[in-house]
Amino acid sequence: DTMTNLAEFEPESGLVPPGIYTETDLYQQELERVFGRSWLFLAHESQLPTKGSFVQTYMAEDPVLVVRQRDGSVAAFLNQCRHRGMRLCRSDQGVAKAFTCSYHGWGYDLAGSLVSVPELERGYRNDIDKSRWGATKVPRLARYKGLIFGTWSADAPEFEEYLGDMAYFLDAIVDRYPGGIEFVGGASKWVIECNWKFAAEQFASDMYHVNVSHASAAIALFEDPDMQKLGVVPPGLDGRQSTRNGHGSGAAFAPEFLAFETPGSPYTDYLTENRDDIVARIGEERAIRTTLSHNTIFPNFSWLEGRNTMRVWHPRGPGEMEVWSWAFVPAGASAEAKRASKRATEFTFSPAGVLESDDGENWPEIQTVLRGWKARQNAMNFQMGLGFEEYRGWGMPGMTNDTISETNARGFFRRWLDLMQGRSWQEIAESDQGRLTEFLAQKGE
Ligand code: FES
Repeated sequence: DTMTNLAEFEPESGLVPPGIYTETDLYQQELERVFGRSWLFLAHESQLPTKGSFVQTYMAEDPVLVVRQRDGSVAAFLNQCRHRGMRLCRSDQGVAKAFTCSYHGWGYDLAGSLVSVPELERGYRNDIDKSRWGATKVPRLARYKGLIFGTWSADAPEFEEYLGDMAYFLDAIVDRYPGGIEFVGGASKWVIECNWKFAAEQFASDMYHVNVSHASAAIALFEDPDMQKLGVVPPGLDGRQSTRNGHGSGAAFAPEFLAFETPGSPYTDYLTENRDDIVARIGEERAIRTTLSHNTIFPNFSWLEGRNTMRVWHPRGPGEMEVWSWAFVPAGASAEAKRASKRATEFTFSPAGVLESDDGENWPEIQTVLRGWKARQNAMNFQMGLGFEEYRGWGMPGMTNDTISETNARGFFRRWLDLMQGRSWQEIAESDQGRLTEFLAQKGE
């Protein structure tokens, strides 16, 4: 039997069985046990500017509509007509008064309740209980500083508890600018032939690849030949990574405020003008230390500070994912500064971006190698920095390590495994706490 036995997988060892990237049975379990129980990113408030504004998105493979209600609240429901299962709204986004299924015409209101059925009298003798045939609601939504998350789970912790220490890093983005952030333009969407975990884990944990994988990007990014040789992230910079609850954030610490921003860009001008405000909001140290950071909120929502992209890795089978990526900008910036920021995002992280395309090479190559039965026998190595973790090192929250380490990946896989093994949220919280207590005892703290 070559199927992966999850009972033998111990993320803390740093050895990862490749079957978790390839096996269809595990993938089907993942949809239910990981995506069905976690908080998933749905939309940013700026995508829903008016009453009736809606966007279509996915919670893993489930299509979902996120809709601004007449009272300003937000509702989300499965984008599935309850008559015969047709996608009940076929637009990506827009403004609606109601949703009418294009198959037989059942009509739903902005909250997803069934309100009209054609041929009601002739077809149903006026006898159908509309209240039983509304679209399936996403039962729990969380609105966090402009970001909207949803979960199908009744017993997942409240979103802020789920976020835990990761709030320090998320707030570094969403609290950074006066007026917060907004998404500009639509989502860039593309398919990559690889498992979603390659991307989610890399954005949680992997600064190690940057100067190797993105060596050619440095040539496109910089005109100065010395800068080109140094790479995208100047080597030797101090930096840390931090994980808790399966989330991960890592950064190379900028030497000073605006060290990595393009001089002369209207976006850089905006940051310079607002420096005091930014420092007052999130503190100087955090502002500097997070400007070149990669981040994942478990399971599949990631962002890059400094390149201003947020994205979701939607799973599409064990060997395929669909990336949905947005450029975000400071909501209070001038149109010119927003344009400059968006252009910088697109130049680096978009389907044709000079950094994005390198990542899009690596992951499918691994996926292809894993088609081999022999290749699938070899555990992957996530052992970097093992034993050198520090709890709350560098004055940062969470379990920390050097930015060149794989502590965050091990944390990501621990949460993934706990969910895959069907542990309750209560059990997960207790075993997390137990591991931390043991860790601190070993360190004599
Ligand atoms: Fe929607 Fe029939 S499938 S009305």
